Amino acid sequence: MRKLKTIFTCSFCGYQAPKWIGHCPECDQWNTFYEETHKEQDRRPTWRPDTPSSQPVALSTVSHQQEENRIATGIVELDRVLGGGLVRGAAVLIGGDPGIGKSTLVLQALSRCAAQDLPVLYVSGEESLRQIRMRAQRIGTVPERLLALAETDLEAILEQIKNTSPALVVIDSVQTVYTADIESAPGSVSQIRECALRLITHAKHTDMTLLLIGHVTKEGAIAGPRVLEHMVDTVLYFEGDRGHAYRILRAVKNRFGSTDEIGVFEMSGAGLVEVGNPSEFFLAERSEQAPGSAVVPSIEGTRPILVEVQALTAPSPLALPRRTTIGLDQNRASVLVAVLEKKIGMTLYNQDVFLNVAGGIRLNDPGVDLGIIAAVVSSKLEQPMPRKTAICGEVGLTGEVRGISHVGQRLREAERLGFTQCIIPNNNLKHIHDTHSITVVGVRSVNEVIAQLFPTTMRKKRPSADSL
Ligand code: TYD
Ligand code: MG
Repeated sequence: MRKLKTIFTCSFCGYQAPKWIGHCPECDQWNTFYEETHKEQDRRPTWRPDTPSSQPVALSTVSHQQEENRIATGIVELDRVLGGGLVRGAAVLIGGDPGIGKSTLVLQALSRCAAQDLPVLYVSGEESLRQIRMRAQRIGTVPERLLALAETDLEAILEQIKNTSPALVVIDSVQTVYTADIESAPGSVSQIRECALRLITHAKHTDMTLLLIGHVTKEGAIAGPRVLEHMVDTVLYFEGDRGHAYRILRAVKNRFGSTDEIGVFEMSGAGLVEVGNPSEFFLAERSEQAPGSAVVPSIEGTRPILVEVQALTAPSPLALPRRTTIGLDQNRASVLVAVLEKKIGMTLYNQDVFLNVAGGIRLNDPGVDLGIIAAVVSSKLEQPMPRKTAICGEVGLTGEVRGISHVGQRLREAERLGFTQCIIPNNNLKHIHDTHSITVVGVRSVNEVIAQLFPTTMRKKRPSADSL
């Protein structure tokens, strides 16, 4: 007989300890341990690779057939993030806050696949079949090959998967699935881990694609999908503000593609709509003549997106003024503010500086540095940027402007959206071969940038602390 065993598990990362501890040594969270009893497990792994014996083989003889192995869902933004579609036999985890639109996205993807005559199965542990049907109806026609199952018992789910042998299965959500083999409640780390492992094992054996949906909770009261990230091939995060209509799908891990790509969607009354032109979308609400606003042609993955960086400087009542950023790296912003202070002589030590990327997108592109600089100076001077001018470039600690990648693409995107002037690093000028109708200005230092953007201020006086 198998023994019952008590163990304490961190609900955040799944770290296990024989005794209760207050602080998790693995993920640094406090008060996340809870008690679990489960039958002592057989220690052998349940999944084995597909070579029947453990003989090594010549790698060149193993078949790969990369292209045929992908299922294109037909949702371009989703396929792009996946690196060209869903890989057969792969497990994909889609995480995101409740209500962000995960179920809607996967149901749309399933509908498209089913319409291409692929057998697909949607397993929901959260909604009844009626509710699923209502949602499917709302987002379009309901194809015949789309099977749905409202079930939470892992054994029953696996049995139905074996019966219907679908090419693509969605489990919505992995937190609701449970197996009777483990005593702890559904949603606990051991349940999630075991259920996911068995589903993934089945997927790898049968070349079925598995899409797992996982909720992310702030407190980690029910186990977050963090433990799953190591077990799956691809992890996608669906982000966005519930107050806004846009949603961004981002890959944080992808064994079959790049992790830089993003997909942009808009939530409408009839499901998620792909946003093929994110630049127009992110600039939609910009007021051109407002001080503190700069437009940056940024690169997300391989795609240029025009975004608006907004800055607000205001006298601070605090001894340590705030440097608050939304959508930008806070340390980067502090460095750039210090560069302005030291190299331009702009007084910012007594100012709160708030930075925001309009539209809620997060930027990691170093090319956005000059946009931050321009927005902060524009806000401090209360002067808008020159009309129809975009700006991009990386800034070093000595105030020099450094070259960036993909300048041609950035210029084309700015040009496409009606910008007539773009300020770029001087180093990049020599790489521009196409004849752009946009005026390109190369700059070497932050000083030159400000002289270019706000010439009147610079002409009046040499930059000194008081004038700025
Ligand atoms: P849902 O896919 O259920 O989110 P999740 O599975 O991530 O919890 O999406 C829920 C939200 O989306 C809900 O607030 C309603 C909204 N929604 C629309 O605005 N339009 C639609 O066509 C659909 C299906 C949902
Ligand atoms: Mg849902």
